[in-house]
Amino acid sequence: MAGIAGKNIVLGVTGGIAAYKAVELTSRLKKAGAEVHVIMTRAAQKFVTELTFREISGHAVATDMWGKLQEFHVEHIALAQLADLVVIAPATANFIAKAAAGIADDLLTTTLLATKAPIFVAPAMNTNMYENPLTQRNLESLRRFGVHVMEPAEGQLACGVSGKGRLPEPSALANEILHFFGRTQSLKGRRILVTAAGTREPIDPVRYIGNRSSGKMGYAIAAEAAMRGAEVLLVSGPSALQAPAGVKLLRVESAAEMRDAVWKEYEAVDAVIMSAAVADYRVKAAASEKIKKTQDEWMLPLVKNPDILYELGQHKKGQILIGFAAETQNVLEYARGKLEKKNLDYIVANDVTEDGAGFNTDTNRILMISRTGEVERFPLMRKTELADIILDRLEALDDETSCKI
Ligand code: CTP
Repeated sequence: MAGIAGKNIVLGVTGGIAAYKAVELTSRLKKAGAEVHVIMTRAAQKFVTELTFREISGHAVATDMWGKLQEFHVEHIALAQLADLVVIAPATANFIAKAAAGIADDLLTTTLLATKAPIFVAPAMNTNMYENPLTQRNLESLRRFGVHVMEPAEGQLACGVSGKGRLPEPSALANEILHFFGRTQSLKGRRILVTAAGTREPIDPVRYIGNRSSGKMGYAIAAEAAMRGAEVLLVSGPSALQAPAGVKLLRVESAAEMRDAVWKEYEAVDAVIMSAAVADYRVKAAASEKIKKTQDEWMLPLVKNPDILYELGQHKKGQILIGFAAETQNVLEYARGKLEKKNLDYIVANDVTEDGAGFNTDTNRILMISRTGEVERFPLMRKTELADIILDRLEALDDETSCKI
């Protein structure tokens, strides 16, 4: 694949039994045309020798900050700047904890802090260590700061137990990296607007009507679209999430503000992905002063908000429109109805009552319906993986002449 040729990959190897698999990974990446620069932690050198990586990669191996200068002048800064991608495989629980805390006490962790390149981390450890809430919290922190965590495999571990935590086979790791370089340019030149999180409809200066949407799905889509080279505008309701790398973030509060922000950009974009949970109703007359608790019962008149996506569908000029449907029953039927009514190209639907699906989870189980009526069902997956699938479908519409992308 041409995308990876000549790219500089900094491969961090930490001290786990799976370090030997990093040798084959180096070989595969090199065969694919990449320059692989290996950094080994001190513990990694107990499992595989520096010499092995030097021979396979064709580059000096960086092992510590204080040793003799090798290929580069200031090793950690040079490698951090040179990198088109930093991959840590295998990543131990200890390394993950240090990275999540921003600790920089050796060459690898220092390089990680100093780089602006995308970072992939492939955890490999005993199942109990992997499932430990502390490790999961650390992985979640890394994800939150834009690190791509490569999913460990399940199976027999070196320590004898069976479960999740194995480093995937080198071929699988290499494929994911090849895919990353293959996809980086696939949306170049495209402008994509993504909406995310829930809106807040004011009651008075203190209170609002909101919903449970965290924004995770929309932020994952925006991050993935930016990684594929698109110019991405993310219009987000209130969310605790950080702006993904390379994404322009515009924060809004109410449905009315979201509608204004979306309409301002609509003419100029190639696609709109409406993952926001827009409030269907707003308070008819929000009070300008805090409302006092003088009444035992309080009726709050609500009026319908404009349906942003419906309006976009009525004024489509070649843009691709992807909508979402959060349902609690008759998912397929309701989603189909929304696809037609709102004049969408795709609708992504889920049953929010299912375990692991819906609001504020990292996973979701979705089905996608295309405007030609095809239905695809997906198993429970990470929202980051689903973002990948949704954008693949969006790109596939490329062939169809009526769409811009
Ligand atoms: N949507 C929107 N503007 C609204 C309400 C929803 O743009 N005022 C968008 C959402 O971002 C989502 C899609 O429409 O992409 C479906 O929203 P949903 O709330 O599930 O459907 P509704 O049409 O509001 O139908 P209902 O509330 O009856 O389920």
